[in-house]
Amino acid sequence: MSVTQKKSWKQLRKHAVKTGNLHLSDLFMEDPDRFDNYKLGSEQLLLDFSKQRINRQTTELLCSLTRESDLSAWIEKLFSGDAINTSENRAALHTALRLPSGNELIHDGVDIVKDIHQNLARMGEIVRRIHAGQWRGYSGLPVDTIVNIGVGGSDLGPFMASKALSEARVPEAGKLKIYFASTMDGSQIADRLDNLNPATTLFIISSKSFTTIDTLSNANTAMQWLRQASGLSDEVLHRRHFIGVSASGEKMQEWGIPPNSRLFFWDWIGGRYSMWSAIGLPIALEIGMQGFQQMLAGAHAMDLHFRDAPCERNLPIMLAMIGIWNTNFLNIRAHAILPYDGRLSHLPAYLEQLEMESNGKCVDRDGVDVDYNTCPILWGEIGPNAQHAFYQLLHQGTESVMCDFVVTARRYHDSGNPELQQQHTLTLANCLAQSRILALGDTVIDNEVTAPFFKRYRGNQPSTTILLDELTPYSFGQLIALYEHKVFVQSVIWGINPFDQWGVELGKDMATTLLEPLTQKRPGKQFDSSTNGLLASILEKQGGKS
Ligand code: F6P
Repeated sequence: MSVTQKKSWKQLRKHAVKTGNLHLSDLFMEDPDRFDNYKLGSEQLLLDFSKQRINRQTTELLCSLTRESDLSAWIEKLFSGDAINTSENRAALHTALRLPSGNELIHDGVDIVKDIHQNLARMGEIVRRIHAGQWRGYSGLPVDTIVNIGVGGSDLGPFMASKALSEARVPEAGKLKIYFASTMDGSQIADRLDNLNPATTLFIISSKSFTTIDTLSNANTAMQWLRQASGLSDEVLHRRHFIGVSASGEKMQEWGIPPNSRLFFWDWIGGRYSMWSAIGLPIALEIGMQGFQQMLAGAHAMDLHFRDAPCERNLPIMLAMIGIWNTNFLNIRAHAILPYDGRLSHLPAYLEQLEMESNGKCVDRDGVDVDYNTCPILWGEIGPNAQHAFYQLLHQGTESVMCDFVVTARRYHDSGNPELQQQHTLTLANCLAQSRILALGDTVIDNEVTAPFFKRYRGNQPSTTILLDELTPYSFGQLIALYEHKVFVQSVIWGINPFDQWGVELGKDMATTLLEPLTQKRPGKQFDSSTNGLLASILEKQGGKS
């Protein structure tokens, strides 16, 4: 049965018709304690939902919808390792990666918590060796530069987290430089290699499948660079200059990663949910294993909250359900992620994959076309910079956009640098100003009635403010797990499988088909006229046959 046939869905429709014309300024007028009534907290996170276009009845109906959709049962399936990724017949057990040692979770007859902690220990040993200067390159010098080569989930999470937590860098990391290369076109790796010393550079090849062409082509370029610089055998270079992180030991072996340099994760961890595993090695190199454990602890705390808290007090559930309200009942199709903290600059890109690769689906779990909208278009930018770019559209454009403001209450407190403290204060003021105007529009300006048309603000753009006490590995873990669970809740309501990504597979196969005429310089007539024409034009411009 389509979710649209559920009783609470129908009630929400009616409710939306009845309340849809209410402006956020009316809602604030009606209820002066709106903030107190719509804020939710858990440890180091506070979520302010008061600037969402909801009232008590909305949240009650949204919670009824979770009950009608058996959300609690789905949450249990997620945590206990049921094969809820049905198209690949796999569990999605990223929450197990955060379980403290001493717990037990049997999956396919194996206690995976033990396995997970054994791998964390191996990862810890690698971190220790690199930090201690004991990982030496081909000339015997200690490695001082790391390049993580990966793409999608094997890049976005560690990239985002390393930047976000750079102020928690451990002294042992010393001057270790950590870079990321993901793009298939080679521009990142080429620029990077130009400025690095091959004798002291270690590459982490991160790929769940270890077949992703983007990653392998960058890895091959790195290997060739090392060969040319050193003149040494592949065996020596593989041993001294590469670590592999993958779910496929076989593929790592085929590529040449020696056994001691292989770190594993498992089929039951989705790529975009993998930064809690050895894919997070660059994070651990930045913040140390203790910091990494703190990040896991924060995520685990959110897991417990998600599993236990009642709907009305449950942060991920409310974040998800209000997203459903905006998408399916207020017909808002765009979602902006606006961190007011430069350390979170890569959060929007990370969430683009997490949300859109997970829930960008148009058929339900049974293959039936859905008759409702699923994942909206998500994008974002550091808030203060976005103010000077696309906020004009948020304030005065024609599109309704839901926004997440992500901000930290405390920053630079112990820095002894009053200028930086002042900059943080300024940032907070801007964050609050923007969400206030977006919500309330004209009603916050003094001359509401006399202002010229070009100085008028429609307002009524709903937003959630996510306030972190401060950005620490722990609160960061909470934040990312919050979004992971939000995505899961929405998938349950929409009845879709969030853990596969078949939409991107055909493109990979098609690219292989197109490689042939491009490499052989033989355009043909086998494709559509646009593709044939473009192939011929490219080859002509390259000086080949047309
Ligand atoms: O193409 C999409 C995708 O499969 C993502 O889901 C994944 O995170 C990325 O490619 C990288 O895959 P891998 O880690 O196997 O190289």
